[in-house]
Amino acid sequence: MYDLTVIIPTFNEEANIRNIVMAVDAVFHEHAIHGQVLVVDDNSSDGTIGIVHELKRQKDNVDILVRTEDHGLSQSVADGFVHAASEVFIVIDADFSHPPVLIPRMYDEIRKGSDIVIGSRYMEGGGIKKWPLKRRLISIGATFLGRLLFPDITDPVSGFFALKKSVVEKAPLKPRGYKILLEVLGKGTWEKDREIPFEFVDREIGSSKLKIKTIVEYAQQVVDISLYSFIHRNNAAWREWKRVFKFGIVGISGIVVNLAILYVLVEFFSTEIPFLGRDIYKELASAVAIEISILNNFVWNDLWTFSSSPARKSTSLWRRLVAFNAVSVGGAVINLGIFTVLNGWFAVWYMAAQFIGILVGFFWNFLVNRRFTWGRK
Ligand code: GDD
Ligand code: MN
Repeated sequence: MYDLTVIIPTFNEEANIRNIVMAVDAVFHEHAIHGQVLVVDDNSSDGTIGIVHELKRQKDNVDILVRTEDHGLSQSVADGFVHAASEVFIVIDADFSHPPVLIPRMYDEIRKGSDIVIGSRYMEGGGIKKWPLKRRLISIGATFLGRLLFPDITDPVSGFFALKKSVVEKAPLKPRGYKILLEVLGKGTWEKDREIPFEFVDREIGSSKLKIKTIVEYAQQVVDISLYSFIHRNNAAWREWKRVFKFGIVGISGIVVNLAILYVLVEFFSTEIPFLGRDIYKELASAVAIEISILNNFVWNDLWTFSSSPARKSTSLWRRLVAFNAVSVGGAVINLGIFTVLNGWFAVWYMAAQFIGILVGFFWNFLVNRRFTWGRK
């Protein structure tokens, strides 16, 4: 039994495979890690398999799994999970896009109690080198979709990550496409995650195998994980859906408060405003009602929707209140903007225009508050 297994998926990597295996093994030695290198190859037609067999003869911690069915990166990694001879797995590309020197840090975080450790390109200190605009845009889109399911994770589609075997042991993974991490996050059993920044460097040798089909498969995967989270109701994505639901209930309570305050102010307290007259009274009452409903929403979201958010300990109540207020005003502006565009410019029925505005404003409010008001930092 090894301390950990580094899983390297490969398909025609003869130019890189020797160097990456040697680099990983060197890291093991340097940090006194009893590690296994498991190459999972999809029956490469170049020299990859031969080179690994040669390495295997020199080092008994090097192993290879050659697959002949169900070709694919995610499938290969999932197969690696099954065949690895340890309780901790780290997945890394063969083409040096992921720095092997980070392996000990990831392993350390796992030993300190994380279930999953993710190498992130999108957190402070991380980055991407040498990617054309097109790939950057695709990646940003994919990351955005993934973050809808896991908002605390900055890079839920990273290909560089570590996990405990227990996370995936019983998980009904349906691996396909490139994003095995999203599948693991969506269906695995885990509580504590951790991200480590790294700079992704595009391959020097060979070419990337990303295709259009990959993007379609990814969209299917996101839908599948969403459905899974609805049915099983105990994973991280479900925790998120619950928050969306609570946020919606709070939003509805805000509408009730808003209308009630407006009614009381107009019916019972209507009065002349000095210098401005009586006509402006309703507008002022409406503004007061809006602000009070925002305060109402803040209180319930803070105490209920986001009761378990670490931000409630790490930030002051005032900071969260001001942030929530600012985001809510932004949401109202978005609502109004959409109403104006749809109704004013495109002649959409005013009720429909408003409804779409409310929906977009709602998701704006949820996502931005999720991140900035009750986010991790
Ligand atoms: N077994 C197997 N089967 N391995 C594969 C396959 C396959 O069908 N396709 C690619 N690989 C291996 C490659 O040999 C390489 O080691 C690694 O998977 C990544 O493949 P690349 O083709 O170099 O991927 P990329 O650079 O475009 O994509 C990277 O970025 C993604 C995030 O945007 C990868 O790191 C992905 O893992 C990552 O999700
Ligand atoms: Mn690559």
